[in-house]
Amino acid sequence: MYSKQFYINNSYICYITTNTYRMNINFSTATFKDFENIPGFDMMERADIYYDFLEYMKTNGHRYRLQNNTGCSSVMNVGTQDDGIKEMVSFVTSDYLGLTQHLKVKEAAIEGIRKYGTGSAATPLIGGYYSYHNDLESKIAGFFGRSADEAVTFTTGYTANSATLQILLQKEDIAIVDMAVHASVYEGCILTNRKTFPHNNLEALEQILKLSKNQFRTKLVVIDGVYSQDGDTAPIEEIYNLVKKYDAYLMVDDVHGVGILGKTGRGTIEDTGLLDKIDIITGTFSKTFGNLGGYVIASKKLTNFIRFQSRQQIFSATIPPGTAAGIIKAIDLIDEEPHLRTKLWDNINYFKKGLNDLKLDTGTTCSAVIPVKIGDIHTTMDVGKMLLDRGVYTNPIMYPAVARKDARIRMSMTASHEREHLDKTLNAFEDINKKLHIAKK
Ligand SMILES: Cc1ncc(COP(=O)(O)O)c(C=O)c1O
Repeated sequence: MYSKQFYINNSYICYITTNTYRMNINFSTATFKDFENIPGFDMMERADIYYDFLEYMKTNGHRYRLQNNTGCSSVMNVGTQDDGIKEMVSFVTSDYLGLTQHLKVKEAAIEGIRKYGTGSAATPLIGGYYSYHNDLESKIAGFFGRSADEAVTFTTGYTANSATLQILLQKEDIAIVDMAVHASVYEGCILTNRKTFPHNNLEALEQILKLSKNQFRTKLVVIDGVYSQDGDTAPIEEIYNLVKKYDAYLMVDDVHGVGILGKTGRGTIEDTGLLDKIDIITGTFSKTFGNLGGYVIASKKLTNFIRFQSRQQIFSATIPPGTAAGIIKAIDLIDEEPHLRTKLWDNINYFKKGLNDLKLDTGTTCSAVIPVKIGDIHTTMDVGKMLLDRGVYTNPIMYPAVARKDARIRMSMTASHEREHLDKTLNAFEDINKKLHIAKK
């Protein structure tokens, strides 16, 4: 085991020593990433030091994995350290249209369970493929104006990305990825070559495409439609043109765009007119669609290849029937209840204006993801805690999810937020800004 020694001298340093290694970790400036793989420490030692770090965070009032004691909504009962269970206005879920609580979605899910039971109990290749999976694949393909066999579903949005990339790209291929894509894309690239380009930087992308010419079998550029931490969008048309100029392919993960952006809610790609041209579109059923699962939209032959070759399709069970039925109803509601999208956008515009009137920095967002950029990690943590104390639940985001000096409070706007929730939050920010001076200088 390791020996440890703590002292407090403005900051809190932990000396950790094993037989072979000695190092200092300053708990007050450390991030989760610093504990991922401490050299010379075996798994038990790493778990031990990490435990101490989380205890230290707790003592300072900073906690993750708070327990929600009510359903996903704009107001939730959240377990806090100091005040027990407390009612909070919540901005932590991506239930953008409030469909997790929609009566018709719940009824459809219950009906799905009544009809088919609770699980599929097999992997799709060997017995776990049911008519409700076929219905779901046809439905999501149709939503994007594609034919029924141009969609394949996964149990999570994460695996839709990671599993698809892992089977499509091997060591002879390359993934060229915007540096701000989701962790699931990075995981999907572990078996292939990967080059990242600075966020939305078309010149850098073109440079990599040029240098990759004749070097790799497949060149796949991977971007998000809406980026999950800044809420900004990709210049999809320009990227598509570049990709085609250099004989590459394009994959767009539009998890945070679908249901929110586009004339009819088809997402970031809709208004570009490229919905039928992008090689691969991936997404999730866990955000706008209020359930769980992921999907890939691509040509019939590509989806077929993924369906029969991806390890997750071969070795892992499928979406359960209640969930599939709930998603199918949620997809219908995008067209049947467009007022939900209108309300969401009213909320986004009102809230963003309120934050900007306070001179808070919401960056380049043009979606339902709204950051308040602060920069310093510790101030951001303090703001998160002060918001909690005022009954507002948000997510402080820091390295490695964003750059070290780019910490922020991240909020997701939903159609179930009411004006009183937004006003309460704006008042809390105003109050905190007076104390911590987080507004733009
Ligand atoms: C951009 C992006 N892609 C993929 C995912 C994974 O989706 P899921 O949570 O449904 O697995 C997320 C989840 O937060 C995301 O933000």
